[in-house]
Amino acid sequence: MNLLPVSATDPEAGIIDRAADSLRAGRLVAFPTETVYGLGANALDAEAVGRIFAAKGRPATNPLIVHVDSIVAARQLAAEWPTLAQPLVERFWPGPLTLVVPKAEQVPAAVTAGGPTVALRMPAHPVALALLRVAKVPVAAPSANRSSLLSPTHAEHVGRDLEEHVDLILDAGPCPGGIESTVLDVTVSPPRLLRPGLLTAEAIENAVGPIDRARFTPQPHRPAPSPGLQGRHYAPVTPLETVEGDSQERVFQLLESGQRVGWLSLRPTTLSGEGLRLVAMPADSANYSGQLYAVLHALDDAGLDRIVVELPPDSPEWLAIRDRLHRASRSE
Ligand code: TXA
Ligand code: MG
Repeated sequence: MNLLPVSATDPEAGIIDRAADSLRAGRLVAFPTETVYGLGANALDAEAVGRIFAAKGRPATNPLIVHVDSIVAARQLAAEWPTLAQPLVERFWPGPLTLVVPKAEQVPAAVTAGGPTVALRMPAHPVALALLRVAKVPVAAPSANRSSLLSPTHAEHVGRDLEEHVDLILDAGPCPGGIESTVLDVTVSPPRLLRPGLLTAEAIENAVGPIDRARFTPQPHRPAPSPGLQGRHYAPVTPLETVEGDSQERVFQLLESGQRVGWLSLRPTTLSGEGLRLVAMPADSANYSGQLYAVLHALDDAGLDRIVVELPPDSPEWLAIRDRLHRASRSE
């Protein structure tokens, strides 16, 4: 496997040079960010971008996030810089906030799925930033996993999914955040939350005022809005189900019926048994998101019949995690 170890805090110049050369040559490089590992290609090279879609098995209709090393670089990719974009990037970049803005001419249609907007983000991980600075090109990078499956938080996850498609995997150990960036559309007013993520909606509202998060707020007139927008996503291969509240009864039932069960629990239990893989998840959202995908990857490898996840509380700091769990539990 072309996995190259690199320091997460002080990336070695020789390694970054090699990865940057690969990107400029039109090849694919997987790299760590503060959220999850990304599968990168030169965003201005439509052919290289095409390789991302092929490697992931991603529908051409799903646009990519373009990563940049500065606010100046971001503005060059935008046809127009919406009023709220500037205070947002000054406050939250580098970091896990992706802004959707009108795209500049030079951004290939392949990146934006033919649409008029482009999603931009300046990542905070030292390896990602060093790579962007040395490559001197914007880098289109979705999460480095096969389409609709679990995002990778360790370099090994990338290797398992995409080994033969990627030129190089920069291995800087686990991603600290563990869950994807928040995607916010600032072409509309008020800005619209498209994907809850590592940066909370509250933090954004504290900085720039109310945003439209209707899609992720249960409404009396509309049935369950959030989970379904794009169907099954962020999902392990093993069927996953979520339980609101105490999940012990459900796990007990499944074990009784002879199933092998992975269980992400949030409260103490005395339940045990041969068919049970119990994972006691952290009670705070930051630690929970840091571990979630790695735990699901591990359970996926354990040959289980089912994964049961006790949902964390329906409160703001858990919004992104609940969104991912709901999507992972959909059958299609
Ligand atoms: O944390 C992250 O955002 C990671 C790291 C690698 O940066 N990237 C990531 O990319 O999660 P991906 O491709 O797995 O998810 C990007 C999301 C998708 O839901 C996509 O539909 C949305 O952003 N998106 C991209 N461009 C868009 C656009 N122009 N308009 C609306 N949504 C867009
Ligand atoms: Mg993804």
